[in-house]
Amino acid sequence: KRAQESSDYEQMERASKFFAHQLRHHTNSSRVIEYLKGRGLSGDIVKQFQIGYAPDGWDGLLSALGSDQRSKQQLVDLKLVNQNDQGRLYDFFRDRVMFPIRDRRGRVVGFGGRILEGDGPKYLNSPETRIFHKGRELYGFYEARQANRELEQVVIVEGYMDVVALAQAGISFAVASLGTATTTEQLQMLFRATRKVVCCYDGDRAGRDAAWRALENALPLLNDGIELSFLFLPDGEDPDTLVRKEGADEFARRLQQAQSFTDYFFAHLTETIDVQSDAGKSLLLKQAKPLIERIASDFYRETLMERLARLLRRETSQLEAQIKAPERAKP
Ligand code: CTP
Ligand code: MN
Ligand code: MN
Ligand code: MN
Ligand code: MN
Repeated sequence: KRAQESSDYEQMERASKFFAHQLRHHTNSSRVIEYLKGRGLSGDIVKQFQIGYAPDGWDGLLSALGSDQRSKQQLVDLKLVNQNDQGRLYDFFRDRVMFPIRDRRGRVVGFGGRILEGDGPKYLNSPETRIFHKGRELYGFYEARQANRELEQVVIVEGYMDVVALAQAGISFAVASLGTATTTEQLQMLFRATRKVVCCYDGDRAGRDAAWRALENALPLLNDGIELSFLFLPDGEDPDTLVRKEGADEFARRLQQAQSFTDYFFAHLTETIDVQSDAGKSLLLKQAKPLIERIASDFYRETLMERLARLLRRETSQLEAQIKAPERAKP
């Protein structure tokens, strides 16, 4: 099993090198490079993230890496190659800009592929495999750790291009949760490396929903000394478009002014609740209570209870009887 795993990682690295090589030497090369330039990326940053190109044929990768039956089967297992109903093998990623996804230790575990133009889904991601578990990986985390001796803070964004565009602008501490909501596991990985995390999703409905889900998933990790905040972008912007429009200094300024966990918590809950009325107050209590009870740190839990008490016009002591601390994990 160990031998198979290490050979899987080697095969993924070979695939990544193949895509990177295609970016420079394929006949479509200039078209792809123009695309990347058009998105503001320099050769250096393309190299740093080992961005590549999956050729538009059906068997570019297959013929380069599938020399025998065993390696062909491995490419199928790693979901780099598909098999059709007739048993014919073909490349999974075709005519796409390729973003290798590295795990914490720098091993390539999957890919994201962006369409250049035309129709089809904008992004195609590696499906889960025996070495790729989406909820556990963060795109750009390895690269961010390489670029910084000490990670003072990490910004979580939605997309590959957001990570790369921020790095291009000199903000080299962004990571992306891979298309899904940021999981507790991903947040835990980050809080082992830094104390300060800023969630910065797209300025649209999906981005705002992602922020609240990240908050919920972060509750059990809110220990003393940890700082979680939320940066909401103007409508229609994402970190990539905004940093290119406004520059790195302005983006850094926005990061500093991100909304604290506590402010966002109550701003979100009271968005649709009228806290002046008794009905509203009781609803707020009902919604806030189970969330506050999941918070790890006594300090953070008490801070939220005090704030809740003020909104409800109650004494904090009246709420303490109702809101419990989470059960401690058995030592
Ligand atoms: N994503 C995905 N599948 C899709 C769309 C998005 O997996 N069909 C994931 C990708 O990781 C992508 C991220 O969600 O990087 C952000 O999606 P979105 O905001 O829609 O991407 P755009 O900003 O529109 O992409 P780009 O900047 O490349 O045009
Ligand atoms: Mn989009
Ligand atoms: Mn979006
Ligand atoms: Mn986006
Ligand atoms: Mn974008």
